[in-house]
Amino acid sequence: MSNDNNGSGTGFTLNDNRSGKSYDLPVMQGSTGPDVIDVRTLYAETDCFTYDPGFTSTGSCQSKITYIDGDNGVLLYRGYPIDALAEQSDHMETSYLLLYGELPTKEQKQKFEHDITYHTMLHEQINYFYRGFRRDAHPMAVMCGVVGALSAFYHDSTDITDPKHRIVASYRLIAKMPTIAAMAYKFHVGQPFMYPRNDLRYAENFLYMMFGTPCETYRVDPIVARAMDRILILHADHEQNASTSTVRLAGSSGANPFACISAGIASLWGPAHGGANEAVLNMLEEIGTPERIPEFIEKAKDKSDPFRLMGFGHRVYKNFDPRAQVMRRTCHEVLDSLGVRDEPLLEIAMELERIALEDDYFIEKKLYPNVDFYSGIIFRAIGIPTSMFTVLFAVARTVGWVAQWNEMIEDPSQKIGRPRQLYTGDTLRDFVPLHKRK
Ligand code: CMC
Repeated sequence: MSNDNNGSGTGFTLNDNRSGKSYDLPVMQGSTGPDVIDVRTLYAETDCFTYDPGFTSTGSCQSKITYIDGDNGVLLYRGYPIDALAEQSDHMETSYLLLYGELPTKEQKQKFEHDITYHTMLHEQINYFYRGFRRDAHPMAVMCGVVGALSAFYHDSTDITDPKHRIVASYRLIAKMPTIAAMAYKFHVGQPFMYPRNDLRYAENFLYMMFGTPCETYRVDPIVARAMDRILILHADHEQNASTSTVRLAGSSGANPFACISAGIASLWGPAHGGANEAVLNMLEEIGTPERIPEFIEKAKDKSDPFRLMGFGHRVYKNFDPRAQVMRRTCHEVLDSLGVRDEPLLEIAMELERIALEDDYFIEKKLYPNVDFYSGIIFRAIGIPTSMFTVLFAVARTVGWVAQWNEMIEDPSQKIGRPRQLYTGDTLRDFVPLHKRK
């Protein structure tokens, strides 16, 4: 393939050496970032598909929401750098930005927060739905089930062709996720469900529903609430990652938003994606003492051993993860303010971070600590059980999923997602009846 783009937008020329024919492929330009070769007509013109498992070179949509420059450690939400948002904004404001494309005015922000707050309560019947789960069910399993079931409770917001339905469903999802998540935890530990409180802000309310009980007044620690809010901002969106692509793919068939977000939660659960924060803590527990760190570093480097250092590396960030930098600072702030420096697992985490950052293998392969490495440590420090870590990621990512789902529905070029394949199985053969098989 030769680059024939002379600035006039003529694009690439693809030479088929089998037939001697050549094909011009247009090149599309975004507002920033690499150009994109438009292969939409490739199959019709050449009778060939492209092959790209893991979509490492494939753009699946156009989006105005989030921009990542992985080589330079840049992450922008609607053009604003993630560290500026984490330091100066809050999760509700960032959610408005992701959904609507602009920072809200004071009045818009108040109205948005009010509207989200007044959707936090769940249909009472959902309480009984929880009772169908085993007490020891993983909270992510409960999340997949309960969020998927929302479409059975909120029929009045599942017409995806109606913009009002779409916005009500989006607000419901953003508002109800912390309530659903906290209830998954309460169910697991056998404590009464705590109803949301409208006088508390989003992150505070979540902490209250998680840690409060009807027996005594629960006061939310402002440092913990701020750290939680920042974690929500840092995880709010991340371009076309596995779970967001899952939401878009599910939604491309016209499925309702509750079903699509439930599909996103299922995808997020895996340890290579959102499940990594839980996997980090499990790994730290397995390491057990700082003396065993070198042994695990060697395991991570050993090609014949499937073990990987959880919380290190990223598909897109090959320099540093800008979210991890903010998270690292927040992590140290939380540890200092809660005075939990002596926690053995945190000691192992800090030592692991130090060694991995100095080790040639990790430096050469650009395997930096990612956002999940630090978020796991913060969650641990503030008393969130390990099994809830990925649930928190899901709570934070809901606004991103919803914003991306809305963008997809409104995109006139949107089609049902339907990749093709390179078939490597048997070719046509005759059926052999059972009595004749050997
Ligand atoms: N420990 C040890 N070696 C690693 C690690 C790791 N954590 N991550 C990648 N490598 C090696 C890998 O073996 C490969 O080596 P080689 O080139 O010799 O074959 C090389 O680095 C490139 O790895 P890859 O698997 O081709 O990279 P990828 O882009 O497909 O995978 C990743 C990215 C995040 C899945 C991977 O780095 C990983 O499994 N990390 C641990 C899990 C983790 O922390 N996930 C959270 C990601 S951030 C949150 C999110 O966005 O969901």
